[in-house]
Amino acid sequence: MSRIPVVFDSDPGIDDFFAWMLLNSSDKYDIRAVTTVPGNNTLETVTRNARGIYRLFRMSGTRLAAGASTHMLKPVDVPPGAHGPTGLGTVELDPGDVKLDEKKAWDVIYEEAVKAKGELEIIAVGPLTNLGIAFFKYADLKKLVKRIVIMGGSTTQGNMGPFGEANICHDSHAADIVFKTGIPIVMVGLNALPPCAMEGDQMEELMPENINPEVKDVCLRIMQSRHYPLCDAVTVAAVLDENLAQWVDCYVDIETRSPLTTGITICDLAGSKDYFGGDGARQKCKVAITTDGKLYYDMFREMFKKYCW
Ligand code: BDR
Ligand code: CA
Repeated sequence: MSRIPVVFDSDPGIDDFFAWMLLNSSDKYDIRAVTTVPGNNTLETVTRNARGIYRLFRMSGTRLAAGASTHMLKPVDVPPGAHGPTGLGTVELDPGDVKLDEKKAWDVIYEEAVKAKGELEIIAVGPLTNLGIAFFKYADLKKLVKRIVIMGGSTTQGNMGPFGEANICHDSHAADIVFKTGIPIVMVGLNALPPCAMEGDQMEELMPENINPEVKDVCLRIMQSRHYPLCDAVTVAAVLDENLAQWVDCYVDIETRSPLTTGITICDLAGSKDYFGGDGARQKCKVAITTDGKLYYDMFREMFKKYCW
């Protein structure tokens, strides 16, 4: 079966690292481009991390493009502490001679969508700024993208205020644009993650003896700075094997104006009624409710086998 063309949009990021690692190990997806967006750190820092990850995973042929240096209507606001000073805890990866694409993220996304003739999926695990700009700039893009998978939001509590989740809160206007495209959206939010919590020592037990020593060392050093689920990795795992999550179909709206609740994902779990009307393009999102921790661990065990060289 031919692999699904995908663009991976990310702000690496501790959990972004493991999401990328999973995606890169899969036979299901063909990563046509990786694009970077500020969030866990500045654009400059996350892009340097991305170049280092690209080298570490021995990638070639995949485009790597930097995105926006600031959010659509807001400045970049790097959260103190969450991902450490380098964005990968304290780990600094050597970017080697990995070069960036000359084009910006939104142009690369559009070009890859055109090339893929309607088959492209986007997996977005950072703020949705690059996607918002892409849909704003290219009116026909929404007809060319098959599905968007998002780590973001929550059906319950948040991590940036009581209800807001970081990726959506950083750029709620971009998120609003994306959720209104009418493209099928898969949303994995904070509510679904707890069963997939993993600590560094548990991760080490899943690694085979012959894993590449640099890969092992980087994984375990990054994990020293992480003490809650790897949100982005759970999201990628949930589309590599959709049995990982239990799903509901529901409308999701983004709050962009309230001073108290800007950035929250309003998931109409009870409703099934399109209260907000619209142009008919709007459709229900596939939202993860909970996940299967055992399957997730098994997927990590299989993933590590692909990094033995
Ligand atoms: C999301 O925000 C970032 O800290 C993580 O990389 C993840 O994408 C979780 O709220
Ligand atoms: Ca992220």
